[in-house]
Amino acid sequence: MTIRIVAAALLLAVSASTALAQKFENLAQTPPMGWNSWNKLGCNVDERTIREMADAMGASGMKDAGYEYIVIDDCWQVGRDAHGDVLADPERFPSGIKALADYVHGKGLKFGLYSDAGWKTCGGRTGSRGREFQDAKRYAEWGVDYLKYDWCFTDGLKAEGSYQTMSTALREAGHPIVFSLCEWGQAKPATWASPVGHLWRTTGDITACFDCIDDHGDWKSFGVLAILDMQEGLRTQAGPGRWNDPDMLEVGNGMSENEDRAHFSIWAMLAAPLIAGNDLRHMSPGTRAILVNKAVVAIDQDRLGVQGFRHAAKDGVEYWFKPLAGGDWAFMALNRSKQVKKIEFDWAQQVVRDVLSARDAQLQTMRYSLRDLWKHEPAGDTGKPLAASLPAHDVLMLRLTPLGAAK
Ligand code: GLA
Repeated sequence: MTIRIVAAALLLAVSASTALAQKFENLAQTPPMGWNSWNKLGCNVDERTIREMADAMGASGMKDAGYEYIVIDDCWQVGRDAHGDVLADPERFPSGIKALADYVHGKGLKFGLYSDAGWKTCGGRTGSRGREFQDAKRYAEWGVDYLKYDWCFTDGLKAEGSYQTMSTALREAGHPIVFSLCEWGQAKPATWASPVGHLWRTTGDITACFDCIDDHGDWKSFGVLAILDMQEGLRTQAGPGRWNDPDMLEVGNGMSENEDRAHFSIWAMLAAPLIAGNDLRHMSPGTRAILVNKAVVAIDQDRLGVQGFRHAAKDGVEYWFKPLAGGDWAFMALNRSKQVKKIEFDWAQQVVRDVLSARDAQLQTMRYSLRDLWKHEPAGDTGKPLAASLPAHDVLMLRLTPLGAAK
């Protein structure tokens, strides 16, 4: 009897600790959508600006298009009090983080914060190292729904263990929270992060440039195409509740409209988190039209949750497919080059088969209607070859819907 009780207690203890080691389930069933302060504002964050961004999220139609999280990145924190509790900058956030979270929640949105696994953040502010449980408890009290957790000043730490610690701390604090790992892909988080968090960065920082790599000495930032190329081989790890994160959007931050459109389309094909990084208060109509294109957002947010794949590449143009729920497919022709490209693509000649989702488009025997997701109009069907002209650094993005057997 006694042995049985001890065994049962042991079993309970083991299952409780395993449960604690797991992230919150049923969150981020589609890639998270929102806005983050870093790409546009850097350290220049304060409560008034954040409130204005939350207002603009509603007023601009972005909330209606599915954007949900307002995330303050680095530099909101200035230190710790005598108890070791993290302190928000009292000049920039005089009402405190809880009041700001309440304001964001009052707009029907969710609220996110940033910290770092090391002893300092990348911006040199206090990190969470050694204070994980204390910080997680505070975030829960404030009603934080999303935590981006960076990887600066982590000498001597191992990524998997550090992120596991914060994941457990968040879980123990009890408030459901999306956990966003920002480890830049160095320790291959795609291979271990799925039980720990909901999304993980796969690369170093993005920069608002389509085709370049910026060398800053001891670190580099990457343009859209460079980041795209670094996603090779990662798609098998992604799915509902676990996403590869090729970094936040640079739409509206200085690239041409073609490039912004291509950037957004690529992220949708990758089932990437759509975290806008521009000033939502002052968007050009072109920028806004890209960010709130619901037809493209629907490709990203498709409930099947399968990351797209490169099907073919020829003469500077790549052809991508992404299987969608209910038998549809998304298609993207991406012109990587600086010249206009005329493309011819004979659907009937393509074998589009995806082992990961066990889907075969059967383009030889099935006919699909085509819808142009940027022109918002029908574009014929797969019964005849596609002929199109692609401007430099631009895309053609189509949605294929089954029509029945090909003639
Ligand atoms: C790192 C991250 C960025 C941003 C900055 C903040 O570089 O990768 O996304 O959070 O830190 O300092």
